[in-house]
Amino acid sequence: MTRRTVDRTGRRVRLAGLLLAGGMLAAAPAAGEDVTFTGDVAPILWKHCVECHRPGSFAPMSLLDYDTAKRYAGVIKRRVQERLMPPWHVDRNVGVQAYKNDVSLSDEQIATIARWVDAGAPRGPGDPPPPPVFRKGGAWQLEAELQRPPDLIVRSTPYDVQANGQDQWWGPSVRVDGIDEPRWIQAYEFKPSYPGGMKVVHHGHAYYRTTGGDGRELPIAHYGVGKSYEIFPQDVGMLLPAGEAVVRWNLHYAPFATTEAVPDDVVEVGLWFHPEGVTPRIETAGEVLFRVDRMGGMPRGGDILIPPNSYKVIQGIHTLDRPALIQSFRPHMHTRGKEMSIEALYPDGRREMLGKIDNYRHNWQITYLIEEGAQPLLPQGTTLLFTSVFDNTAANEINPDPNQWVVFGRRGVDEMSHMWVGISYLVEEQYQMLLAER
Ligand code: HEC
Repeated sequence: MTRRTVDRTGRRVRLAGLLLAGGMLAAAPAAGEDVTFTGDVAPILWKHCVECHRPGSFAPMSLLDYDTAKRYAGVIKRRVQERLMPPWHVDRNVGVQAYKNDVSLSDEQIATIARWVDAGAPRGPGDPPPPPVFRKGGAWQLEAELQRPPDLIVRSTPYDVQANGQDQWWGPSVRVDGIDEPRWIQAYEFKPSYPGGMKVVHHGHAYYRTTGGDGRELPIAHYGVGKSYEIFPQDVGMLLPAGEAVVRWNLHYAPFATTEAVPDDVVEVGLWFHPEGVTPRIETAGEVLFRVDRMGGMPRGGDILIPPNSYKVIQGIHTLDRPALIQSFRPHMHTRGKEMSIEALYPDGRREMLGKIDNYRHNWQITYLIEEGAQPLLPQGTTLLFTSVFDNTAANEINPDPNQWVVFGRRGVDEMSHMWVGISYLVEEQYQMLLAER
């Protein structure tokens, strides 16, 4: 069985880092027909929700049984209508709309859920279809799709996550044997420990540096809740040099789904290589950090100062000194974050919205993986314009305190803003070649 699912347009869909098994679809019931759990709603939940909402996962409740789904009916309706659940927060009116990992519900599916809730969440006759078969806890998610375990696994050293619910950071540097010959990375997965780590690792990075090399660090993995792997596009790879190496970990523990301590937590990163002898046409820089708060070189907090009960907009620009292909983007702000977008200002004066998150939620660090043909191909001299909107009012449901002044900081109650952009820098010939192929 394929671990990718197929939505109603026949497109393959995949949630970044979280594969949804299944593939059953129910036609939207016609107006006037009864909407039931067993007949209409369960198939939607099976396909779009229960990979997370099941026992042993990190979501608050299991939606595998009717009673729980009924108990949560009101809040389910609200969350799906607001398009907060399933977590997919891209603006549907502007920017790229074709994503490899789009897990959003269709308008009909949302209407079906709303009608079911409004009708009193009836169970309906018979049984729901059998629930999907889940991956074993702690297994590599990419193993099924890439049909083998990782070619190289690196591990962090153990950290005792305290039961105090506070932000905690862990940054060990760990020596590894490395590989004998340089290899091209095709995919990576960042795996918190199971079951404890997945409830406490909020985001993390792993950087790889060979001890005999030029000191350059390769960003081999970036993780956030909602994002745990990346498979580079066809023809794209990241070159991992040979030799003994040091992996520098930057782990942010923010116990968000448990109040219990997690002793000896170890994070793993798995790397899958392109086959030996295959040289991808394009070398990717992976996810590159574009700051909007202009922290680099600026006094910290110099750019973010949000008054109580107010909104704030900040922008940052970055001009590309080489042509580039954009594969993905992943906005990052904290609890006051509301919107974040990336626009292209082309050398010929045109301006284009590439992608916009209009429903940002700090819990979720989602990578929006753009479909192959829709990946923006940008000429040298293009300026990327990033816009971040903060909402420090009481209307923001997750605002910890709208009466505070908010400044730059690493804690979730402070603010920051940057976007991780999956980018491959190109030489002019590669740009012309890709342009001609479009
Ligand atoms: C990728 C994992 C994931 C998927 C898929 C997902 N959820 Fe969630 N859901 C969560 C997590 C984690 C939370 C708690 C954090 C939050 O609210 O963002 C949550 C919260 C919720 C809540 C709020 C519960 C409360 O007590 O307030 C509802 C309702 C909900 N989800 C419904 C759904 C429905 C319905 C679907 C499918 C249409 C769905 N979710 C898909 C992970 C997921």
